[in-house]
Amino acid sequence: MCATTPVWGGNSARNWADPSLQIDLVRSIDRACFDFLLLEDSSFVPDNYGDSMEFYLERALRAPKNDPLPLVPLMTQASKHVGIVPTISTSFYPPYLLARLISTLDLMSDGRVGCNFVTSTALRAAQNFGLKDHIEHHTRYEMADEFVELVKQLWNSWEADAVVADEERGVFVDPCKVKTIDFEGRFFSSRGPLNTARPAQGQPVLVQAGGSPQGRAFASKHMDVIIAAVGTVEEMKAFRDDVRDRVAAHGRDPDKTKILYQITPIVAETDAQAQEILEARAKAKDPKVMLASMGSLFDIDFSKIDMDEPLAGLSTNGQQGTFKRFMAMGSTLREIAQNFRFGIEGVAGSPETVASQMAEMMEEAGGDGFLIAGSVNRRYVAEITDGLVPVLQRRGLVRKAYAHEHFRDNLLEF
Ligand SMILES: Cc1cc2nc3c(=O)[nH]c(=O)nc-3n(C[C@H](O)[C@H](O)[C@H](O)COP(=O)(O)O)c2cc1C
Repeated sequence: MCATTPVWGGNSARNWADPSLQIDLVRSIDRACFDFLLLEDSSFVPDNYGDSMEFYLERALRAPKNDPLPLVPLMTQASKHVGIVPTISTSFYPPYLLARLISTLDLMSDGRVGCNFVTSTALRAAQNFGLKDHIEHHTRYEMADEFVELVKQLWNSWEADAVVADEERGVFVDPCKVKTIDFEGRFFSSRGPLNTARPAQGQPVLVQAGGSPQGRAFASKHMDVIIAAVGTVEEMKAFRDDVRDRVAAHGRDPDKTKILYQITPIVAETDAQAQEILEARAKAKDPKVMLASMGSLFDIDFSKIDMDEPLAGLSTNGQQGTFKRFMAMGSTLREIAQNFRFGIEGVAGSPETVASQMAEMMEEAGGDGFLIAGSVNRRYVAEITDGLVPVLQRRGLVRKAYAHEHFRDNLLEF
């Protein structure tokens, strides 16, 4: 499941910063035995639509958004098994700081933490961290590769049994089992070792969602979970085949890398009710919101482009994979606004119907499951965890109980 803040609906809008919403969410998905909760993040207030922050702030599009890392201990304390995956930027975080934060969280939760690595695509985010212009897309991924390499070495700078806590000998840490790393890269360097112990899982679960060839190359080299935001079974299949080939080319086992597809199902009492919701949402959809939202991922002001003029000469230093899919959806903005889907949409029905549709897609495309994304309100979460999940469990498609203590072991087991 993928969580975004803030939230419209119910009583949660006014209390958007109250962590009880996230605590209720994590308890629900822990009870429903999900693999993990991904806490998405970005570090800017967009002003891409009409040269102004107004459009975004009025609609709470990407802001306000609290930092995900302080939510992690709250969530692990309020749950027993589910993995928690905060998002961090490889372009702006110092790798040592991140390695220590994640190690601390993994140790404190006894092995329940992962990390979603993003390169951050927006110019405004780069400017918040002191850059005048953003780093080029391919350079961001070269940095990301080195960042993850360095972070892994820092986690490995303590052997698993370095902490001996031997009261009789008066030795807390065996000094032979802690080593400097002396990392010297193109972008980062760090002497090490980390000044906290190795994470409880050895290496926390690594997650990434990149659509471009560079993004896929990075994910295939390092990641345990790779997420695809594609819209059709054909795209799912093509993504999976490509990424599995890339994982194997790195000498890694493709069956140990989980590929998940982003989906936003509508679950209602009956198929007819779900169709009504689907139709009402399609009717209420404002193309401007989608264009403003996508514009903030591409750093393009779509308000300045005529909806019916053929599009020409557009390019981006932002999200490449999404941009390519976006541009392929039509020759004008109006056509694209009608056709573009960020992930899989249109799956709607009773719990039985949605379960069947998801099972069919998984059967046809192959893969390891879905990342359910949607606004985090209690009602939607209950429709998933208490409506859909029991049907999936009855059919043996998802777990009924966790078998292991650590997030990584649970992830690999089912
Ligand atoms: C499910 C999902 C979640 C993502 N979460 C974040 C996020 O929290 N923050 C962020 O900056 N980018 C996020 N992204 C964007 C990706 O990290 C990446 O920038 C994007 O897929 C484009 O990569 P590409 O340029 O390699 O195609 C997410 C993408 C997907 C599909």
